[in-house]
Amino acid sequence: MKTSLSAESGFDSAAGATQKYTRVAVLLHWLIALLILANIALGLSAALLPDGTFSDTGIRFVIDTHKSIGITVLGLAILRVLWRLTHRPPPLPAEFPGWERAAAHAAHIALYVLIFAMPLSGWLHDSAWVAAASHPMYLFGLVPWPRIGFIMNLDPATKEQLHSQFGALHTACSYALYGVLVLHVAGALKHQWIDRHSVLRRMMP
Ligand code: HEM
Repeated sequence: MKTSLSAESGFDSAAGATQKYTRVAVLLHWLIALLILANIALGLSAALLPDGTFSDTGIRFVIDTHKSIGITVLGLAILRVLWRLTHRPPPLPAEFPGWERAAAHAAHIALYVLIFAMPLSGWLHDSAWVAAASHPMYLFGLVPWPRIGFIMNLDPATKEQLHSQFGALHTACSYALYGVLVLHVAGALKHQWIDRHSVLRRMMP
């Protein structure tokens, strides 16, 4: 584990230079952000648009793509945590007040938790679907992806009940995600435009 800033980990420690995240961290950050936004749009379209908006094949395509993107996010999130465990992110500028550091830190922890909670609660929800056995899941229509076995093997009545409970959990996590995303983006924009001390640059290629 690296414990100091180094050129190898991608941080420029020259006096006055902006300390940046490594290229891998930047790539993972924007890829995960993009896929999460796409999945929010697909999830909301499936959940909120009136019946009949999509044809039967259309709605299946939307939901199946949503599931595939969600599982991809889970894989990328694991890579992101591995990066985080082996690298130290560039420190926040020294002039930031304590409350802003604490808020940024809390938002980052909440984001890590939610980036896992979203796909895991979705996977649980999908595994409890009574029709799961007759609708096998394929990532992007290509790669077979398993459901969670012990949930699939429960009796239909229990699955029905769990399906709505995990669905409610998935929705609750999405509300928490909207809140934390708004705080996270608002913080970055405040530093960019009000404080005139960009932290966004650190996360740019
Ligand atoms: C990045 C990860 C994910 C995000 C951000 C996400 C987001 C969402 C959102 C915003 C909704 C609408 C919730 C509502 O307002 O009620 C939703 C619904 C749903 N999600 Fe996810 N989700 C993710 C991963 C997954 C995964 C991995 C699965 C399954 C393997 C999944 C399965 C579902 C299902 C079945 C629905 C309900 C769609 C419907 O109403 O028919 N999600 N998701």
